[in-house]
Amino acid sequence: MSDATTLSHRHLLDVESLSAREIHLILENARGFKEVFTRSIKKVPALRGKTVCTLFFENSTRTRTSFELAAKRLSADTVSFSIATSSVNKGETLIDTARTIEAMGIDLIVMRHPESGAPHLLSRRVRASVINAGDGTHEHPTQGLLDAYTIQEKKGGFEGLKVAIVGDILHSRVARSNIQALTKLGAEVTLVGPSTLVPRTFAQFGVRVTHQLMEGIRDADVINILRIQRERMNTNFFPSIREYRLLYGITRERLKSLKPDIMIMHPGPVNRGVEIDQEVADGPHSVINEQVTNGVAVRMAVLYLLAGNLPSSQRD
Ligand code: CP
Repeated sequence: MSDATTLSHRHLLDVESLSAREIHLILENARGFKEVFTRSIKKVPALRGKTVCTLFFENSTRTRTSFELAAKRLSADTVSFSIATSSVNKGETLIDTARTIEAMGIDLIVMRHPESGAPHLLSRRVRASVINAGDGTHEHPTQGLLDAYTIQEKKGGFEGLKVAIVGDILHSRVARSNIQALTKLGAEVTLVGPSTLVPRTFAQFGVRVTHQLMEGIRDADVINILRIQRERMNTNFFPSIREYRLLYGITRERLKSLKPDIMIMHPGPVNRGVEIDQEVADGPHSVINEQVTNGVAVRMAVLYLLAGNLPSSQRD
């Protein structure tokens, strides 16, 4: 439980700079906002008069829609910046693009970018609050927070909980944000995957590393399965997809030898038949759809808390 009522940051750039108290504060606020989903009018006036811009330099199905819905449910105005039809294609820089958008009266910028650190750079150049919606291979803080929320909702807490994160950890910003959130909250985290995708150096973050799937997941309470990010690989990290599935795929057969109440998570997009079987993704242990629902509540909490830290000229 948290007795903090505000975040000590103007931006949400990573989970690394959040304290455990601040993570609990976001999760508590998310719980309150999730209750709004049960009402006939799924809207509160908390961000009336504020404008949120989604600025995505990379594709997204879940995160962008989720932020837009979260902002609308808080009664904010929303604008969506499309790279494909913007002057970025004429050579406009990231900072000029953001400042141009900000000059139209934007209060909060939600940005996804292929370069690690791009949201940090932006946050130093604009007055608006910047929320990192995924930067390169660095962090995806709201995904880490919504995963933590889902675990807390389903398992009741984190202390001593065994969470295995399986797959392409090396290229995964989701893994980094999960590791930061879960270790701060008291869970025992094990990273599982081929040595090329799960280097032993990750142990420095206070997690266990194994390259043997069953050793990593046998005692797990939660398995978070990550996709193979072929778009970020400039070489072959494993011989073939078939071999990856054989050694690391969460199959129907493997599921039978796990804890009876094992919880299966995946941030999406899912590669069915590669890192996870169809029957596992859609089965009774899977919370993949709940993760998506919870994402809206967590993003409402983040937008709400950051809006409270806007300069007073922007607050009312
Ligand atoms: N989990 C996630 O970031 O999904 P999108 O790439 O669809 O936003």
